[in-house]
Amino acid sequence: MKVFVYGTGVMGKGISQVFAKNNHDVFLYNPTVENAIIALKNIERDFDSLVSKGKLSKDDMEKSMSRIKVIKTIEEATDVDLVIEAVSENLDVKKEKFEEVDQIIDKRAVFATNTSSLSITELAVVTNRPDKVIGLHFFNPAPIMDLVEIISSMTTSTETISFAKKITLEIGKIPVLVEEAPGFIVNRMLIPMINEAISIYSEGIATIEDIDIAVKRGANHPMGPLALADLIGLDICLNIMDTLHSEFGVDKYTAHPLLRKMVRGNKLGRKTKEGFYIY
Ligand code: CAA
Repeated sequence: MKVFVYGTGVMGKGISQVFAKNNHDVFLYNPTVENAIIALKNIERDFDSLVSKGKLSKDDMEKSMSRIKVIKTIEEATDVDLVIEAVSENLDVKKEKFEEVDQIIDKRAVFATNTSSLSITELAVVTNRPDKVIGLHFFNPAPIMDLVEIISSMTTSTETISFAKKITLEIGKIPVLVEEAPGFIVNRMLIPMINEAISIYSEGIATIEDIDIAVKRGANHPMGPLALADLIGLDICLNIMDTLHSEFGVDKYTAHPLLRKMVRGNKLGRKTKEGFYIY
């Protein structure tokens, strides 16, 4: 199968790696080609580390790498079966990209968005193939996390849902089917939990470290909520809280002022080298 990945941030990179490792050809695209080249180098580095741990053979690494092609124009992506959009989490930006790609990519291709909480229906209706638009929500880090939420919109056909399920299983992930709703399943629970951890810290009830230890050791999470916020990106967490709040219109989804303040101060977590922790 041929996959066109639009976006070379953490998710675009991780998703490309997963598809290439599972024998699919990937066209990797970012309008700023230098960013796609950096992403490709990072993928190589990640594969290299698997080789050095004895988890991947050098031969398999080379085969996987050869399946990923950085392209300079969307027109170079020919005979595509699946498009995965992983650009920034902004509805207008995503709509613009969907419209652009819809004009160029093969009419039979399914369009998937990796949005973490936005409406799939709103994206579907800007294309000429609303029945072929679906949400495929991967989790960070994509090569490690097993789950993919498959989100159907008001317009997604049952054929598209079956295709998404089949391909998710084929790349070794576990699919769950979700009807479109703000935050889907995971983020509707996970991000308010992070928001609550920020409240606990802000009220002076416990330190950052102790909040994280408490959740790791008391609830058996692999990571504490504040370390997880840094991994996800505080801007993404705020974005999701704001979407939940505006869509549901209930107070329990109000973003904590400290979360908003940190985003304004560009303390976004790992990507800016500072969030609740310093990196
Ligand atoms: N990319 C690729 N591999 C990674 C990685 C990354 N970013 N981070 C860690 N790994 C690998 C490591 O190389 C290591 O591999 P080996 O076992 O082969 O050595 C393995 O993962 C475990 O890593 P570590 O030993 O360094 O650390 P860890 O055991 O603490 O695991 C973790 C790190 C996998 C990130 C783990 O802490 C974890 O699962 N955390 C929770 C992550 C999570 O909840 N993600 C979902 C976020 S929500 C989301 O993504 C949705 C959204 O829309 C916002």
